[in-house]
Amino acid sequence: MQIITTKESLQQAVAACKQAGQTIGLVPTMGALHAGHASLVHRAVAENDICIVSVFVNPTQFNNKEDLAKYPRNIERDAELLRGIGAHFVFAPTPEEMYTAEEMNSTFSFDFNGLDQVMEGKMRPGHFNGVVQVVSRLFYLTQPDKAYFGEKDYQQLAIIHHMVERSSLAGTFGSLQIVGCPIVREDSGLALSSRNERLSPAEKETALGISRTLFESLKWAKEADATVKEVEQRVVDAINAIDGLEVEYYEIVDQSTLLPTDTFSHAIGCVTVYCGPVRLIDNIKYA
Ligand code: PAF
Repeated sequence: MQIITTKESLQQAVAACKQAGQTIGLVPTMGALHAGHASLVHRAVAENDICIVSVFVNPTQFNNKEDLAKYPRNIERDAELLRGIGAHFVFAPTPEEMYTAEEMNSTFSFDFNGLDQVMEGKMRPGHFNGVVQVVSRLFYLTQPDKAYFGEKDYQQLAIIHHMVERSSLAGTFGSLQIVGCPIVREDSGLALSSRNERLSPAEKETALGISRTLFESLKWAKEADATVKEVEQRVVDAINAIDGLEVEYYEIVDQSTLLPTDTFSHAIGCVTVYCGPVRLIDNIKYA
């Protein structure tokens, strides 16, 4: 496995792979890798000749400087995990390598067709602009056949699908296929997240209330006459009743449009909860 830190070397490596007729699978990450990331990398290794994993804490998608500073980083441990899985290249650039000073400070704009106006997009203005900025650059640099993303960041996945569909009209990303992969949970139900590293053992125990409530809500949704609004409220009340948890939003929306829905069919519930100072997200599909 080779660790690459410059765009130029990455493009040279990619050109050599393309020349040899090899297919490329890309797994974009911000590092602090866990079993959720590992599941994406295993799949990318199995389905492509070459697997490239990017490890880059992208500053332009953080609208909170403290959150950026506290984001866990451990490239040595990440590299060890990736080597064990069989990834071929790790791309770990510095922010200065990735962006010019102007790009770092100006707002990248993209037409999200409203997908960025709800939930995470509403709470974290500019967040998805930064995500699309970095992901489109990674696609450009690595020219992947397939790119893998976790469903835990469901809104991000929907936005990346939208970006590729729009851009492929112009042929920008060729026949790139976006592969969404299921959430990986601990046996306890807690969705794996790099941010879990910031939870104390007691907070981790408390955080279990999030997934427990989401799974419980599948039963609530099946109760006679249960409405979407009632279930939404019941989830918020149940999580807020747990000492140490505070819901930022819980929305049950259509899985494709991310717009509010009044039916459980093709619906997904997306939640953001503060567990102490740590902001956690999770989601559950109703049907
Ligand atoms: O999901 C993430 O880890 C990041 O948002 C991504 C897709 C790697 C872009 O920085």
